[in-house]
Amino acid sequence: MDFHFFGSLGTRDMAMDLGTANTLVYVPGEGIVVDEPSVVAIELVNGVQRVRAVGSDAKVLMGKTPDNIETYRPLTDGVITDLVVAEEMIKYFIEKAGGAHSRLSRGPEIVICVPSGSTPVERRAIRAAAFNAGGREVWLVEEPMAAAIGAGLPVSDPIGSMVVDIGGGTTEVGIISLRGLTYSTSVRVGGDKMDEAIAAYVRRKYNLLIGPGTAERIKKEIGSALATPESMHIMGMVSGRDVAVGRPMEISLSQAEIAEALHEPVYQIVQAVADALEHTEPEIAADVIDQGITMTGGGSLLRNIDLLLADEVGLPVRIAESPLRCVALGAGKALEDRELRASLCPA
Ligand SMILES: Nc1ncnc2c1ncn2[C@@H]1O[C@H](COP(=O)(O)OP(=O)(O)OP(=O)(O)O)[C@@H](O)[C@H]1O
Ligand SMILES: [Mg+2]
Repeated sequence: MDFHFFGSLGTRDMAMDLGTANTLVYVPGEGIVVDEPSVVAIELVNGVQRVRAVGSDAKVLMGKTPDNIETYRPLTDGVITDLVVAEEMIKYFIEKAGGAHSRLSRGPEIVICVPSGSTPVERRAIRAAAFNAGGREVWLVEEPMAAAIGAGLPVSDPIGSMVVDIGGGTTEVGIISLRGLTYSTSVRVGGDKMDEAIAAYVRRKYNLLIGPGTAERIKKEIGSALATPESMHIMGMVSGRDVAVGRPMEISLSQAEIAEALHEPVYQIVQAVADALEHTEPEIAADVIDQGITMTGGGSLLRNIDLLLADEVGLPVRIAESPLRCVALGAGKALEDRELRASLCPA
């Protein structure tokens, strides 16, 4: 008889990829049930703060709110920087995933991901936020491990697998063998830094101020890690405010310009991968040469980043299926497979 089932009657255990840009929640038997931006809008009513919106409903308000509403991203560079708001967000997503506990049920068991480079203090903050949001038991899993599991890499085998997860806040590089991270490194460079680099470039070259939302849209529509002969693509109608005269203005941008703007953050990512390869034991390096590198995370969707990385480090590179979902799917597997979980998560 499965006592565990009765033990958690009425609760829905879940795995959460609490990301800088997006939070995903996986529920066993159902899959990913929440996939929303990590954004919270707080409203001030008669001197009292209350949550106005969370997730997609809050992201559309960014940069457009009246004075009494502020939007927050409670994570920066993969770690919680605003504990109170992060807890509100986690609570909301747990409830949305059906895990709210009542008098009849206990809180859910939660597997939650942390960047491999996070400090003990940062890990405690994530754990505390999950407990305060109603979690009964909280397990932490390192993001590169979750990403590798979610990407279908043979993490339990004695084969070295290398995963590069480019998120909004961090890029995590991990080499995994026998369910352990034999090497990991995390750099605080990801999609957000790419957006900032685009905004800085447009300001420098055109004297035009654009918001982070516009920069992200440019990156997704025409962004590229490399200026290729095919990259003549132009994006018109980029609007912002002219720095000098303070008036709204519109320009067009080419893909080659964006590749130039993205040079620095993209090469910081390449450098992190090169560093990891340098620190790899020879036997494992041989596996990585054989198996290649697997990319996950939203940043791996930047055009040509796989080609650039393959070229720079001289190894085959592939992008995982559903790169934005790998970490949540991998954390979900760790939640479902108790043996795997026991070997992964510091309880
Ligand atoms: N097509 C695309 N091209 C380039 N970047 C993209 C694309 N789609 C999404 N992104 C970027 O991917 C990032 C989000 O990826 P992801 O959801 O994996 O991050 P996260 O898990 O929230 O962050 P982290 O792991 O750093 O905490 C954002 O910066 C987003 O702009
Ligand atoms: Mg992530």
